[in-house]
Amino acid sequence: MTWQLPDAVTIVEVGPRDGLQNEPGTVATDVKIGFIERLAATGLGVVEATSFVSPRWVPQLADAAEVLAGLTRRPDVRYPVLVPNERGLDGALAAGVDEVAVFGAASEGFSRANLGRSIDESLAMFAPVVTRATDAGLRVRGYVSTVCGCPFQGEVPVDDVRRVTTALLELGCVEVSLGDTIGVGTPVQVQDLIAALTGDVPLDRLAVHCHDTYGQGLANTLAAFEAGVRVADTSAGGLGGCPYAPGATGNLATEDLVYALDGAAVHTGVDLAALVDVSAWMADRLGRAPTSRVARATLAKRALADEVSAAGSATRDDSSA
Ligand code: HMG
Ligand code: MG
Repeated sequence: MTWQLPDAVTIVEVGPRDGLQNEPGTVATDVKIGFIERLAATGLGVVEATSFVSPRWVPQLADAAEVLAGLTRRPDVRYPVLVPNERGLDGALAAGVDEVAVFGAASEGFSRANLGRSIDESLAMFAPVVTRATDAGLRVRGYVSTVCGCPFQGEVPVDDVRRVTTALLELGCVEVSLGDTIGVGTPVQVQDLIAALTGDVPLDRLAVHCHDTYGQGLANTLAAFEAGVRVADTSAGGLGGCPYAPGATGNLATEDLVYALDGAAVHTGVDLAALVDVSAWMADRLGRAPTSRVARATLAKRALADEVSAAGSATRDDSSA
């Protein structure tokens, strides 16, 4: 069977936001800045930097303004931030961002847990954010969470995903990212979902955002590419999760996706070896190994090569003594 993959895709790196929002401890602002700058240097074109949300809800990202103030931004990289309301937009505008994302859900239970509001109330909250951001010349992205399942209600009807996706596009979002927030989806389910949305939603306005809780993130993302989607969100090192989605683990690791796409000659612009270095650097700061299989395999291979080369030079030293 021949895979129907595109020639090129866009990766939206969400590690500094989705990853670090879920850390139990506080990550220092300069480490966050170092993480974002290192990620942007690997060739990633989009690095989601942080969120302008309530620090009572997400204390991990309370330093959003400081992160953006300290960041050296590359002209060829976009640095979107999450904003739920006008207060968040004010902070983002003051920080000089070029892109914001509002974030809704396809299920009522998750909407209430994550935003303290029903779906309709959340859309009403987003409306002035999208209008003002667009008027200010910003690109506006939307998220729809729980598209493959909800931690509170279980199955989520496709009609509910369609309703929120089209509502976000009608508000003025240029792209909507379909979030499998708790990573329960499977590849055929993802393709069925995209097929069901096609007709109401142009494929070039969609992205996928697959958490890897059940190990399906890579298969689900490739399934979405086969179905015609061209943008995927991933997280370096497989960091991530949502504090308001019980049981969810990290996103699909960026290096796991880049490895698969390199193998299929699909262009991402990302230097895989450099990306593994960044994931290892961040994992060191967090005091644990990256969860990504590609990062672990690459680091193990490098350690073995170092051992072989050290043993070789020890043998040469012995023979020359
Ligand atoms: P609320 O409690 O309904 O609103 O929060 P409030 O008006 O009562 O505000 C509570 C406090 O926060 C107040 O301060 C506000 O001033 C302040 P206090 O009076 O206690 O001192 N506040 C703010 N502060 C800074 N920036 C703001 C802001 N707004 C209010 N923008 C709100 C409503 C939406 C703000 C809250 O529910 C919230 O911040 N939620 C964010 C939750 C979140 O960030 N979740 C993770 C991101 S979503 C995700 O991970 C899923 C995704 O990855 C896709 C996927 O995986 O599916 C995107
Ligand atoms: Mg997420």
